[in-house]
Amino acid sequence: MTHQHRGGLWSKMISLAAAVALAGAAETENVPALRDVFKDKFDIGVAAEVLPGNYQPEELALLCRHFGVVTPENDLKLHHVQPREGAFRFERPDAFVAFAEAHHLKIVGHNLFWMRDNETPAWFFKDGDQPASRDLVLKRMREHARAVAGRYRGRIACWDVANEALSDGGEFLRPSKWQSLAGDDVVEQAFRFAHEADPQAKLIYNDYSIESPEKRPKLLRLLREFKARGAPIHVVGIQGHWELDAIPFADIEKTIEAVSQLGVKVAITELDLGVVRRGEAWMDAGKQREALKKPDLYAAGCPPDVLQRQAEQYARLFQLLLKHAGAVERVTFWGLHDGRSWLNDWPWKRTDHGLIFDRRFQPKPAFFAIAAETSCSKP
Ligand code: XIL
Repeated sequence: MTHQHRGGLWSKMISLAAAVALAGAAETENVPALRDVFKDKFDIGVAAEVLPGNYQPEELALLCRHFGVVTPENDLKLHHVQPREGAFRFERPDAFVAFAEAHHLKIVGHNLFWMRDNETPAWFFKDGDQPASRDLVLKRMREHARAVAGRYRGRIACWDVANEALSDGGEFLRPSKWQSLAGDDVVEQAFRFAHEADPQAKLIYNDYSIESPEKRPKLLRLLREFKARGAPIHVVGIQGHWELDAIPFADIEKTIEAVSQLGVKVAITELDLGVVRRGEAWMDAGKQREALKKPDLYAAGCPPDVLQRQAEQYARLFQLLLKHAGAVERVTFWGLHDGRSWLNDWPWKRTDHGLIFDRRFQPKPAFFAIAAETSCSKP
């Protein structure tokens, strides 16, 4: 069956109303492979620590069938790779890269520099008992990029170089030791070091809420400054940890348009659509204590009407991304299925249902809605 043919067929067969029923009955092998469905539009990826023994064979089959790109959820982060200065740990990243290559999956390196103090090992900012100088922090950044991006040169095709560097508040950069010790050009330096370590790699700036009216101007300022100074950057990663009933469609569209006007591509890098609202817990650790008091709403399962709403909203999101397919190069889901989602643990323990496959590895209504949306929009 040709791609075109399958697309047409699915658009006739699948309607949102039928999606719930179909999801229950579907055999995983009988549904279209997402990576094929979207082949002419953008890459479809997933975050998963694919290591021997980490996933069941059924999960690996699901992953390889639907996704063409894989991001390690944690193992390439600085505190995992270099927990102490110079003590690099590459066993897990090496195994991950080997698995991805053996299964013809593209790899996203996530991430070189997560620019929050609580996500950075303390040694990075110290010189003995004293705070490290700008020169020492930059030297460590350069060495880290060389050791990690350099090690996988030509194998890891793109890197989230700087993660979450922009402020949620009034400042431009998030107040942190990254900024206070290394200086206001710390993000640019990160990109220069990454480029030096692997000149072929695609370099991504990755952050949450950068589509919002508060953060978008900072993102655009960052991109303009990069352009003016000749600093390398290829892609903006909008994380996309959105919530049911609150996807900021208009802001997403404005951001895609504004970024692509500056000659930079967009990727949705960490997509999920949690059904248990979490408010603004991520902005302020204090608020997480409030969140802890919240009940586990959907521990017994996600109600069909919620699944249906989620399907409709995922479909609308993909409709928007397809409209801008020329500017969007990848959509990556943050987890293979609901049982493998960080939303079950963050910002408080609960049973969330934010992804497109359920805990039994079955496609949810959202899966069918996305596939149908895509088929409908094909010429
Ligand atoms: C999360 C992982 O999913 C969790 O397993 C881990 O405990 C914390 O980090 N933004 C990012 C990702 O860039 O790296 C985060 O991943 C989710 C938010």
